[in-house]
Amino acid sequence: MSQSWDAGLYQSQHAFVWKAGEDLVAMLDPKPGEWVLDLGCGTGQLTALIARSGARVVGADHSAAMLEKARANAPGVEFVEADAASFRFDQQFDAVFSNAVLHWVKDAEDAVCAIADALRPGGRFVAEFGGFGNTRRVLEAVERASARLGRTVESPWYYPTIGEYAAILERRGLEPELMMLFPRDSVLDDPEDGLRNWLRMFGARLMAGIPAEEIEEFLRLVEDDARPALRRDGRWFIDYRRLRLKARRLED
Ligand code: BEZ
Repeated sequence: MSQSWDAGLYQSQHAFVWKAGEDLVAMLDPKPGEWVLDLGCGTGQLTALIARSGARVVGADHSAAMLEKARANAPGVEFVEADAASFRFDQQFDAVFSNAVLHWVKDAEDAVCAIADALRPGGRFVAEFGGFGNTRRVLEAVERASARLGRTVESPWYYPTIGEYAAILERRGLEPELMMLFPRDSVLDDPEDGLRNWLRMFGARLMAGIPAEEIEEFLRLVEDDARPALRRDGRWFIDYRRLRLKARRLED
């Protein structure tokens, strides 16, 4: 089952996602003339930032709604619809970049295989996504709230440890040069409804087992449960933990 996106809401209320990705672009360090693939480009703000370096960027996303916004945000950049677990390009890239996407791809082995194939030998893969323990407090609150309603939920997300992901990279011919897992609690824009807005934006698959008529009650139970852990100074936070990495495709 795939997630469908409200690209307008994503762009207006979740800007912290790409703002936090700006220093990942610094780590990518794109050079004029290089070919870069931005995998899971969303609304294209980081794609545009990469393009400003003079690199030639292709933005790829599986959501047509996101791509429409991306084309408006990064005029002149090429965007294509693609699935991160199964994409193929005729050309090879100097770098593949991906911010806040790969935790959606449970088929990590397939995604890394596609990424390795898209890179020229010696090319680099620079990515950040949710790592082990990401959104743990949210998931705990969601599980307890669903149990109270007699419902079950299943996380749609893949949050690997460094060791687990390093092994996948190595199996697929990518040599890890840097991997780090670090907390990044992120404050949500709306002081009152931030958590429920986040769940509505990103949690459609997570909440698939909750009938529509129980959603309001469910969200209230989640807020009550999560409040001690995720509410501070009148604001909601999400307990993100980022897995950040740089890896290089081995020479043939
Ligand atoms: C993340 O960026 O870690 C994330 C975003 C939405 C849902 C789950 C995780």
